[in-house]
Amino acid sequence: MARQIINGPKILLMKVLNNKNISLVVAVIASTYLYAIEPIAYLNSLGYEPAQKEIASSKNGMITTQHFLATQVGEKILNRGGNAYDASIAVAFTLAVVLPRAGNIGGGGFMVVYDKETEQPYTIDFREKAPELSTKDMYLNKDGSFNDKNLSTVGYLAIGVPGTVAGLWEVHQKFGSLPWDELIEDAIYYAENGFEITPFLADILLRYSESLSLFSETKEIFQLHYPNFKNKTLVQKDLANTLKIIASKGRKGFYEGEIAEKISSEIKKNNGLISKSDLKNYSPVWREPLISNYRDTEIITMGPPSSGGLHVIQMLNILENYDIKKIGHNSLEYINLLTEVMKFAYADRSKYLGDPDFYDVPIKKITSKKYANDINKNIQIGKLTPVNEINPGKYMDGESHETTHFSVVDKTGNVISMTYTLNSTFGSKVVIEGTGILMNNEMDDFSAAPGIPNQFNLLGAEANEIIPFKRPLSSMTPTIVLKDKELFFTTGSPGGARIISAVLQSILNIIDFDMDLEDTTAAKRIHHQWYPDILEYEFTLDSSIEKNLKKMGYKTESKLPLTCLQTIMFKDGIYYGYGDFRRVDALASGNISD
Ligand code: DON
Repeated sequence: MARQIINGPKILLMKVLNNKNISLVVAVIASTYLYAIEPIAYLNSLGYEPAQKEIASSKNGMITTQHFLATQVGEKILNRGGNAYDASIAVAFTLAVVLPRAGNIGGGGFMVVYDKETEQPYTIDFREKAPELSTKDMYLNKDGSFNDKNLSTVGYLAIGVPGTVAGLWEVHQKFGSLPWDELIEDAIYYAENGFEITPFLADILLRYSESLSLFSETKEIFQLHYPNFKNKTLVQKDLANTLKIIASKGRKGFYEGEIAEKISSEIKKNNGLISKSDLKNYSPVWREPLISNYRDTEIITMGPPSSGGLHVIQMLNILENYDIKKIGHNSLEYINLLTEVMKFAYADRSKYLGDPDFYDVPIKKITSKKYANDINKNIQIGKLTPVNEINPGKYMDGESHETTHFSVVDKTGNVISMTYTLNSTFGSKVVIEGTGILMNNEMDDFSAAPGIPNQFNLLGAEANEIIPFKRPLSSMTPTIVLKDKELFFTTGSPGGARIISAVLQSILNIIDFDMDLEDTTAAKRIHHQWYPDILEYEFTLDSSIEKNLKKMGYKTESKLPLTCLQTIMFKDGIYYGYGDFRRVDALASGNISD
């Protein structure tokens, strides 16, 4: 196991000093004096103890999620004879309770499947949609200017029509084996009886105390009863009732009747746009999976309205031209190459990517080997192309903080890779009165206007402008990799724009660098998204590498971890799992009986 030593976390210290949590500040000052910490040691220095202690292994299946309680629920369902689809549905509902910052029934997402029985991949899109009354310029002033970022990120106007319940229902209709209501039992239990607030969740509730107090219902549930959160139990009675209704009525329990009435009337009262008919008419879509080869593996991933899969394939196509292993993991040349490749891909994202139901996304072209080769002609290790010289699509002939990912594999070999989100941490911060449902702020993933970046600093264009019923562009990248028609590994992550680069690096780490799960998870990640012109790295870079990158012209910046990979690997009949310690409560486990 080769965890990287971190030198001089000064920038990290500055960031943490802006944090209101004094114990966090003291802890990081202490660790700064040590002057050499590892990612995991950094978390320990904050007083966190990651739930994942070692690589989990099992021959009967594996589950990895961002909360150990959700992982246990998934195991329970598999042990009861449920399949990976059943377990995923149960995990998703449980995360909506125990991981309120991202798990949700008020958001949306994507699921990528490899169905063992049919040996077929499937992808389902249950991304939020723009309401019928939305307009292209709804976040702009009358003169076309833009000055209030809050409109698309906080409160009622930021909410997109949620898709999660409809998506899970659809998956159950097609693939489920246990009764629907049984899959929601544990989520109801944790909402009704509460669950222990871990130190990690306590710190988040504390850190977000201001924004979680903006709306009285949200404040009541997530702030009022927990003076310092630690060792307390989080009870969500209204959410338990909502889940009971969904358990007994299925998708209609959310999109019609009492819950839909509460959602639409509160939104209307507060000048939001989602109506009863927006809810009733919401439907998820089975979409053509994106499939490509990288070296001797087959990559199965999510297509638009996610940009993630498409750009991972585009970047792998370029990188296939190089002997990555020889270049060396996180060497100067490697970081230089990866950064250049990312710049070209994210530039294309800004122009060509959007909901394929509304915009003709050039999927085939962007994912073609020829296009990759054309871009590659303009990449030279040792040099950089200034961002203003990279025009989206320049080499095409003819013509972007809160999400959670989990992966599940069952005994039969069915594989589920699912990422879903509220967009920001705790979404729009709105909980609909009497329902316990935290609503998303996914409308911010649209491009409010050309040149106006979203909260992840991602730029967009006409392809991603707001149109009624359209889905906002996403970066979520749930991905399955096969080798010889068998699972090799499955992965995915939260992290906004950084999801795409994190998934790319996990693929390279496993395929090119032969890293095991612990190493690939621990390996420090870099990120560049064309604009802003910043090469980000987790914690620190080797100082001589950073000096050379700067000499070449890169603007570099240290970041705290913003991604969290949940990966499952399969080798010689055994499944291996490792929950990313960056979000402390993550756990992979496979206690599944024969
Ligand atoms: O769909 C997207 O790309 C964003 N809404 C994801 C947000 C996210 O990952 C925030 N996470 N840390």
